[in-house]
Amino acid sequence: MAAWQRWSATPHRKVRARRKRAAVGLEDRSTGLRGPARYNGQFMPELLAGKTALVLGVANKWSIAYAIASAFVREGASLVLTYQGERQQQTVEELGAELKAVRVLNCDVTRQEDLDHLVAELKQLAPIHTVVHSIAFANREDLTRPFVETGREGYLLAQEVSAYSLIAVSRAVAPLMSAGGSIATLTYLGSTRVVQNYNVMGVAKAALEACMRYLANDLGPANIRVNAISAGPIKTASARAVKDFSKMLGAANIAPLRRNTDPAEVADAAVFLASDLGRGVTGNILFVDAGFHIIGLSSVD
Ligand SMILES: NC(=O)c1ccc[n+]([C@@H]2O[C@H](COP(=O)([O-])OP(=O)(O)OC[C@H]3O[C@@H](n4cnc5c(N)ncnc54)[C@H](O)[C@@H]3O)[C@@H](O)[C@H]2O)c1
Repeated sequence: MAAWQRWSATPHRKVRARRKRAAVGLEDRSTGLRGPARYNGQFMPELLAGKTALVLGVANKWSIAYAIASAFVREGASLVLTYQGERQQQTVEELGAELKAVRVLNCDVTRQEDLDHLVAELKQLAPIHTVVHSIAFANREDLTRPFVETGREGYLLAQEVSAYSLIAVSRAVAPLMSAGGSIATLTYLGSTRVVQNYNVMGVAKAALEACMRYLANDLGPANIRVNAISAGPIKTASARAVKDFSKMLGAANIAPLRRNTDPAEVADAAVFLASDLGRGVTGNILFVDAGFHIIGLSSVD
């Protein structure tokens, strides 16, 4: 055993470290178990006070967008939610009421009239300070069969909803972001690595990430920052459309943090980007995936 290993293994140091972790919320004091700590707002509360946030992509309470909207409200933001069509209306209106959203609006991002209506409503709340684009779609058949069988229509649909919509939303809302601010989108590692069955969505995420960089360059002079959060696999309605999604959750076994991603930690990263703490960050992909993206060959069995 090397000297530093002997030193770090001494009991008194372990106990001190445990107490320290418990103090900052990294460890449950009663059980001693390590796990995903929740930021409790104790040190820097109200990071988004005075800011108006638009969050697109809440379908239900399992949506990543819902976790983000909840964190934004916790930090004092005024919230606008959108839903996609009548089928989601009641659920999202109920979640919006719970979060005290100032508006809950219908917006299918493939419909220009919906985007125009969204802008008309947002004008009454301007300036808008932060936008979260948490939207993606591909036909289930394109997430279950070999990628080589992807058809033209399915390819274009995935691109339109999952990548082009970031451009459409940014163009629509940027003029209302007169005080500058942040636009954040959600992406996944399948954009740059082959992930079985992620297929056409991986290609759409690659386009989305490129869109994010070009938008960051266009909107930077208006002090609007554009970033992406690359989340690890999380059980949501969209994720379940990917064949064998549960295998993706196996990432927990080899990720440096040895666990899966908690939507709450994705949400806290979104808070950082939306807040003034993220003021120097644009054109960036922030991985919130328990570190899985750095792994090549794992030594874990
Ligand atoms: N769940 C994961 O493992 C994971 C990992 C990384 C990134 N992401 C990304 O996070 C984002 C949110 O997905 P989620 O996992 O929370 O699933 P979700 O199903 O809860 O959210 C997807 C949202 O996209 C919306 N949407 C689809 N087509 C639309 C359209 N035409 N107009 C408006 N909205 C539309 C849906 O209504 C839904 O609200 C997506 O971009 C997804 O690719 C998810």
